[in-house]
Amino acid sequence: MKHLLKMSDLEQSEILGLLNLADQLKYEKKHGLMKKRLEGKTLGMIFQKSSTRTRVSFEAGMYELGGCALFLSANDLQIGRGEPVQDTARVLSRYLDAIMIRTYKQSDVEDLAKYGSVPVINGLTDYSHPCQVLADLMTIREYKGGFKGLKLSFVGDGNNMANSLIIGGIKVGMSVSVACPKGYKPDAEVMKWAAANGDFSCTDNVRTAVSGSDIVYTDVWASMGQEDEAEKRREAFKGYQLNEKTMSYANSDAVVLHCLPAHREEEITSEIFEKHSKSIFDQAENRLHIQKAILVTLIQ
Ligand code: CP
Ligand code: NVA
Repeated sequence: MKHLLKMSDLEQSEILGLLNLADQLKYEKKHGLMKKRLEGKTLGMIFQKSSTRTRVSFEAGMYELGGCALFLSANDLQIGRGEPVQDTARVLSRYLDAIMIRTYKQSDVEDLAKYGSVPVINGLTDYSHPCQVLADLMTIREYKGGFKGLKLSFVGDGNNMANSLIIGGIKVGMSVSVACPKGYKPDAEVMKWAAANGDFSCTDNVRTAVSGSDIVYTDVWASMGQEDEAEKRREAFKGYQLNEKTMSYANSDAVVLHCLPAHREEEITSEIFEKHSKSIFDQAENRLHIQKAILVTLIQ
């Protein structure tokens, strides 16, 4: 594994390897056994969008590993004034041991990896969010003991989270079902791949998607960069909320996950959010452990 650009680049064995290492790093932290595996190493973190979890988990993770992380707001870099990604990649590669980038276009992340000479980590694009999905798979395994025979359903917008969850879920052997309103479906290529490689379905019927689910996942209706569509989307996504009724279709021991930030009373009711807050915040915590596993795997 040279970079982490999107879930489809990863083999099942690479995903499981990262999850196993993250479990080990979590154990070491909880038992006071942390090792400085990345002493003297520096991660640059370019942010073109806001972040709480991604920024703090990478920054704290690098510190815990004995290295250092630089927060680089795209507005303050020359990239914000039009310096090409190709040049930024070649310059930053001379200073850093790895680069994490959160941006809009997936092609910018791919270009950073193409032109730079250090590992590149996708910290979210409009197309994908692989770091989040790896933390989600880690959480699912903690709660369910494995992936075999599980049904994961995603309710809401066919966005970056849906695209990455579909691929990640299918790669580890879960059945994946998505409920989205017409016009808001996941990426067509992602769905084509999923249908050819596993048990996948996409419907506009929430009941069909959620029935018999072991894990039910949702995300915001308007992602970063779509703020001006929020009103229109609130209309389009009515009926795609995780609430008591939607959850009644799932298995009684279903785990609810949300990548956060959450908009209560939009994609999820406060009641369902609070009822499942343990799994949702375990999921957020696991970002730290999986980030460290990604860094150790790519930088060492
Ligand atoms: N889930 C997630 O990526 O959170 P942030 O936007 O806060 O980083
Ligand atoms: N779909 C959301 C995920 C945030 C972690 C967004 O892109 O804003």
